[in-house]
Amino acid sequence: MSTAPASARVVPTTPFADQRPGTSGLRKKVPVFRQPHYLENFVQAVLDVAAPPPGSTLVVGGDGRFLNREAVQVILRLAAANGVARCVVGRGGILSTPAASHLIRLRGAAGGILLSASHNPGGPDGDFGIKYNTANGGPAPEAVTEAIAARTRALTEYRTLDAADLPLDADGTHALGGMTVEVVDPVADYAALMESLFDFGAIRSLVAGGFRLRFDAMHAVTGPYAREILERRLGAPAGTVINGTPLPDFGGGHPDPNLTYAHDLVEEMFGADAPDFGAASDGDGDRNMILGRRFFVTPSDSLAVLAANATRIPGYARGLAGVARSMPTSAAVDRVAQALGLPCFETPTGWKFFGNLLDAGRITLCGEESFGTGSDHVREKDGLWAVLAWLNVLAARGEGVEAIVRAHWARYGRNYYTRYDYEGVAPDAAHGLMAALRARLASLPGTALGRGMEVAAADDFAYHDPVDGSASERQGIRVLFADGSRIVYRLSGTGTEGATLRVYIESYEPDVARQSMDAQEALRPLVSAALSLAEVQARTGRSEPTVIT
Ligand code: G1P
Ligand code: ZN
Repeated sequence: MSTAPASARVVPTTPFADQRPGTSGLRKKVPVFRQPHYLENFVQAVLDVAAPPPGSTLVVGGDGRFLNREAVQVILRLAAANGVARCVVGRGGILSTPAASHLIRLRGAAGGILLSASHNPGGPDGDFGIKYNTANGGPAPEAVTEAIAARTRALTEYRTLDAADLPLDADGTHALGGMTVEVVDPVADYAALMESLFDFGAIRSLVAGGFRLRFDAMHAVTGPYAREILERRLGAPAGTVINGTPLPDFGGGHPDPNLTYAHDLVEEMFGADAPDFGAASDGDGDRNMILGRRFFVTPSDSLAVLAANATRIPGYARGLAGVARSMPTSAAVDRVAQALGLPCFETPTGWKFFGNLLDAGRITLCGEESFGTGSDHVREKDGLWAVLAWLNVLAARGEGVEAIVRAHWARYGRNYYTRYDYEGVAPDAAHGLMAALRARLASLPGTALGRGMEVAAADDFAYHDPVDGSASERQGIRVLFADGSRIVYRLSGTGTEGATLRVYIESYEPDVARQSMDAQEALRPLVSAALSLAEVQARTGRSEPTVIT
């Protein structure tokens, strides 16, 4: 163990007014985080609220984006000065979000501090983020994030150490003041967890039999994880993982695994000599996109297909306790739950709402339309887990991606689905649009938005957590139709510039003969009804969304 001299110091500070954590922690532009005391204030607020008991461990790591390395050192100094006994840090300050969640659970840590702005671009002008996860490995619940926000507004000082940076690029143990810092391999424990859940032998045989796969790490955190698991442990050829070297600015890209941003992968999967299977993950490794040869699997369908096939995966062979999806996610998984007689929960947007259900053993699988899928193995969504779950199902069924999804639709019906995002909208305009919709909610049922489009019900989604009884109101406006079609409007809680309006559109098609349409084509009338109902163009000044997924 190396020991660095360190002396504790109390630094007077003044609060920042903008440190309220959103859907996934505190996210701001890098220059905001680089203001003197900004990061320190937030970390002190986290430590004050988390109040790790004597002897406790914290897990610290991030997705490697710009500022990650410096921020880890700052956090370690504050943790040491605040009496934390031990910090477990991923080598190089790196931990994917699901790997961090696992490490918190594995080590019985009091919690973890995770550095990421997920799929948002990085670099000196990009985004940075920090969030606190609790002892269950999951994002802190709202009561905790509210307490952190309140604490940031009341801080007058923080405690740190005067100490040199620790060498974090090699595994080892160091003393920092009275605290022990343990630098660990960020991949090993996570890879072992994956190996315990999935039939690696079956996937290895699939790959050895000529099945071709491609994984796009988008120059973000999953590169080393995917290389270890897919190339080393499962025997996929070198080069299976593309854009596999994590870069602080993600190579200038937007590390969001969707059809717009994962362009290298999409080009190959929709090209002439497409592999059998393609997947991508995001900045911090919790999102996933699944593709077959010239075939896109919507995240909502992915959750439904995995739920329907879960018992083919060793880690889930005993069956599922239940499933959950976020409210805007399509109801495809609901149909599987109904067929299997499983409880199915509809929660507000954000992974943290799954935490109580997972902890209470009421659900095993859960997912969001925003390329998030996961299970009770950790308390975050997990990109590589979803990739391995698909590979396991493909190996077990011996069929291709498209064939499996089409068979699924034939049995359960197809939920056509799309999401329109309007980014960087003037906040007043976005809030005005939502307020106008809210004001009209009561009058909508019974009105026709177009031919055959009579509104059956409309509400502002509220959730009552069945485990702890907490209530979350105003979680998005739902316009429901009798045939199972839906329109949902909500404002993003993760953006860093202006407001982002999301409009989610879904229709249900039980007839196999009508399940092969292009989704945009199939949803056209509903989309235009959705946009005119909310007066999107007039209120936002946008004739086109920024992104369609
Ligand atoms: C977005 C997604 C949401 C996800 C979150 C964190 O939040 O919509 O499903 O949990 O990112 O990855 P939003 O910006 O919509 O608040
Ligand atoms: Zn993410």
